[in-house]
Amino acid sequence: MAPRPSLIHLSAVVPVVLVIVFSLLLKHGESAATRRNCATHDYHNTLAELFPNNATGVLNATLAIIPIPLATARRLIPAQYGILERAYRALLPNFPEGMYPVMVQAAHDHDVQLRAYGITIDDFSRVGFEFPFLDLTGDGYSSFRWAPAQLISASNNIALEGSRAYGTIVSPAEYEPVCDAYQRLPNGATYFKGYSLSSPEFVELEMTRLATPSLTPYPLELFKNITNQPTFANATSCDNMIRLFNTTMSLGEHAPKPVLGRVRARAFPFGDAPATKWADVYGVQVATPFIENNYLDCHTMRGYSGTGGPGDSFVNDDVNANNGEL
Ligand SMILES: *[C@@H]1O[C@H](CO)[C@@H](O)[C@H](O)[C@H]1NC(C)=O
Ligand SMILES: *[C@@H]1O[C@H](CO)[C@@H](O)[C@H](O)[C@H]1NC(C)=O
Ligand SMILES: *[C@@H]1O[C@H](CO)[C@@H](O)[C@H](O)[C@H]1NC(C)=O
Ligand SMILES: *[C@@H]1O[C@H](CO)[C@@H](O)[C@H](O)[C@H]1NC(C)=O
Ligand SMILES: *[C@@H]1O[C@H](CO)[C@@H](O)[C@H](O)[C@H]1NC(C)=O
Repeated sequence: MAPRPSLIHLSAVVPVVLVIVFSLLLKHGESAATRRNCATHDYHNTLAELFPNNATGVLNATLAIIPIPLATARRLIPAQYGILERAYRALLPNFPEGMYPVMVQAAHDHDVQLRAYGITIDDFSRVGFEFPFLDLTGDGYSSFRWAPAQLISASNNIALEGSRAYGTIVSPAEYEPVCDAYQRLPNGATYFKGYSLSSPEFVELEMTRLATPSLTPYPLELFKNITNQPTFANATSCDNMIRLFNTTMSLGEHAPKPVLGRVRARAFPFGDAPATKWADVYGVQVATPFIENNYLDCHTMRGYSGTGGPGDSFVNDDVNANNGEL
């Protein structure tokens, strides 16, 4: 039986998060005050009004899947976290045998707010490799996502420290483009690059939109599923980010765009040198608003709908509670 998660558990944590946010703001008050004037094309945060007491924001992102051998995944992922192969095969029945889907997430974080407290955070970019479908709690079905390292805009101390507090290996970085999720190249492709200011690490994506979107091997459901799995780095705490794919930001003219391209990187946990190159990488470009519940006890999220239940995370609790028996 899946223990039924409850939002009540989560609410006790919020004062802690506020204290952390406030202390970060005090510590780095100067950076919040000297707001960088960065014009972005991102849509504004439509959730701040609906969830004024929660941290909300917008992530405009390229999400792409890099299949790697399961044996390599097993070597890179700390041994104590089981890989839930059944969980990703349920979403991707035709995924190649013996392979595991790593996700690269290259995103611009925009208009982050805690509206009721008048708190806003400067925009920033971030990129990193994420390892979804991991059995953090040992129940054999709840999927968690390991995001061990991130490059984060050097200008945003709150984001840098906020990620480090999870035990993430964080590199202060610069980005091309500076204030957007990607830019357009003369050849029509989109381009994104983040490079560390403190190490030789970088991640670069050049993606082209698929002329025939239906030819993508990865349904949107996969990205929705992965991005709603709680994230951890050293597993001292978990980040519950709820990303909504059904708002105006991801519909109509803004509908998710399947893309195909190449990724080049020198970044943890892949080797230091030389850079690794992956060609024929399929993914999607999509902007979503999000609600973020920070620094939760990972074990309270065992059986949580985002970890193994259908639908968006904050509805359908009943359905999800049973969905554990995969
Ligand atoms: C918003 O924050 C409250 C705690 O203040 C929490 O209980 C609730 O789950 C959060 N809402 C969502 C949709 O995550
Ligand atoms: C996401 O970013 C791209 C590149 O800047 C922009 O063209 C697009 O309009 C953005 N989408 C949303 C919904 O913000
Ligand atoms: C995880 O990282 C946090 C933040 O750096 C640290 O306080 C904590 O002790 C670390 N936990 C483990 C198990 O390494
Ligand atoms: C994610 O996929 C798993 C199957 O691997 C499924 O059980 C679960 O319901 C999905 N979660 C969401 C939030 O869609
Ligand atoms: C989007 O999905 C969430 C969760 O399923 C739901 O609560 C919300 O009402 C939906 N919003 C719209 C605009 O359909």
